[in-house]
Amino acid sequence: MCGIFGYIGERNDAGKVVVEGLKNLEYRGYDSWGVAWKSNGIVSVRKDVGKISDVRSEDFSDICSLAIAHTRWATHGGVTKINAHPHTSCDQTVAVIHNGIVENYEELRRELTAKGHRFVSQTDTEIIPHLIEEELKTTKDFAAAVRATCLRIRGRFAIVAIHTHSAMLVAARNGSPLIVGVKRGGGEVSAPGRIEGYFIASDIPAFLDQTRIVQYLDDGEMLVSDGKSILFSDIQTGEERPKREIEIQWTQQQAEKGDFEHYMMKEIMEQKESVARAVNQDDAQIMTLAKAIREAQGTFLVGCGTASKACLAAEYFFSVIADKHVNVAPASEFKLYHHFLKPESLIVVVSQSGETADVLEAMRVAKSAGSKVIAIVNNEGSTIAREADYALRINAGPERAVASTKALTGQLAVLLLIAYALAGKLREGKTLLLETSSAINDMLNPRYIERLKALADKIQTKRDIFIIGKSWNYPMALESAIKIQEVSYIHAEGFAGGELKHGPIALIEEGTPCIALIGKDEVEQDSLSNAIELKARGGFIIGISPDRYDAFDEWIRVPDATAAQAIVNIIPIQVLAYFLAVARGKNPDMPRNLAKSVTVK
Ligand code: M6R
Repeated sequence: MCGIFGYIGERNDAGKVVVEGLKNLEYRGYDSWGVAWKSNGIVSVRKDVGKISDVRSEDFSDICSLAIAHTRWATHGGVTKINAHPHTSCDQTVAVIHNGIVENYEELRRELTAKGHRFVSQTDTEIIPHLIEEELKTTKDFAAAVRATCLRIRGRFAIVAIHTHSAMLVAARNGSPLIVGVKRGGGEVSAPGRIEGYFIASDIPAFLDQTRIVQYLDDGEMLVSDGKSILFSDIQTGEERPKREIEIQWTQQQAEKGDFEHYMMKEIMEQKESVARAVNQDDAQIMTLAKAIREAQGTFLVGCGTASKACLAAEYFFSVIADKHVNVAPASEFKLYHHFLKPESLIVVVSQSGETADVLEAMRVAKSAGSKVIAIVNNEGSTIAREADYALRINAGPERAVASTKALTGQLAVLLLIAYALAGKLREGKTLLLETSSAINDMLNPRYIERLKALADKIQTKRDIFIIGKSWNYPMALESAIKIQEVSYIHAEGFAGGELKHGPIALIEEGTPCIALIGKDEVEQDSLSNAIELKARGGFIIGISPDRYDAFDEWIRVPDATAAQAIVNIIPIQVLAYFLAVARGKNPDMPRNLAKSVTVK
């Protein structure tokens, strides 16, 4: 939901720095872009609709050491040049970039209009520079004006502001992520060198090529920097908040596309190793989590989108492997579960980004009931990881494509491992997952990929695709639908195999692609019967399974992974969805209307 990037420091090409960094945040929004920079005591702004990746950083050649940039995912106001960030005050001296929603913007806009402010955009954001301008009538202190402004706006926000008459970059956060990258001469936290500058961004990949030393701004905090030092404080009280410098493990190479045309395919292929990385957990920690689940009076698994499908699969893992019932809820619905929560309840939140607004809210609902929260996350240092009582990382490395792929299989692997631990069979679970990882390595060979590409070419003109599965393949059928919908825009729906005959089967026509996800398990024959029912209505049956059956018009072979079948069955679907998008001329990395990290409710 919008990418924010700011730089202040020794470099005199700040405009170029922020444009280049912003390109690494394009997955957060790609409706429009904008840059503001300060040179010769003047704040200049350039913005436009379109993608930041199409902008030449060399075109920002003014000599300056302070600049901010933004890539937008529209919420208030259409996708127009005027609505793109940065937004400025009436006198053009204040420029602001913003991620979030100003909930009371109508009321503030009326108030400011009555005071003579003129608005040019339809955005809620434009309120902010005008409020700062208004505050600057009573103080000369830019940071104080930003602080006072933050106290007037309601809703989630991350803002970065600059001002003609101030040498400072000021940023504040309440609910939307902001991370500081610290550029030091020496580089290492252990041997800190002289400060060369600061990067302020919504996510780490923006500055990963510059530094791996970070400081996290928490909710309700702001920062002020002159490029040589930085001061964190509480927005409300002004009290100073000391911060640690943390060295993160991700590398720039992990965050780059390399030889792949799209991040989505790069990340699909990374599953050759990422599942094994997810399994590489400390046994004692996994046992502690398993114990917490065993002892909790009610465990709830909560996530959004793809992560919520991992939670649903885990419901089957826990039940089949550990004979343990857990509850599953989409995070956006979890608030309504507060009646069931007590201090003895346990909430396991699953999130790749660790920043999803609905998940954060669910977590806070649980915490306010006194319940314990365990987070399973990919992004180290994310808000969810920091706010949880306990956080477990899936070690997938940066996931940049909007469509989640390697994060899902990492989440499934960790959840499966916990289920095995719960059953007192942690070693067995680890062995299974490591074998599965090596089977994935074999499966993702060039011939296999070509085969899926050919299948995508064959069905890319179809209007609908239906996917069925039973047991843990049911959540994978739901996930398959998300994957196909979001990147190819084909109407896709997933069902529990047995449910089709209760209504949806009426939609099957001659040649309708129907994908059956099957494993060699107790529901294998039932799943096959469901596929045969579809075939009898004219369905074109694509079987994804270890064994071939006559009912299949196309068979995509997957290894027999027993309890880890969900992990291997979803991978060919990810590849198929990718090629469906490409065949239809869509960019799978930038699906319309979507953003990687959904930090608004
Ligand atoms: O970062 P999170 O795992 O919390 O994100 C949750 C969903 O927004 C995400 O999985 C979304 O559904 C993906 N676009 C699916 O590919």
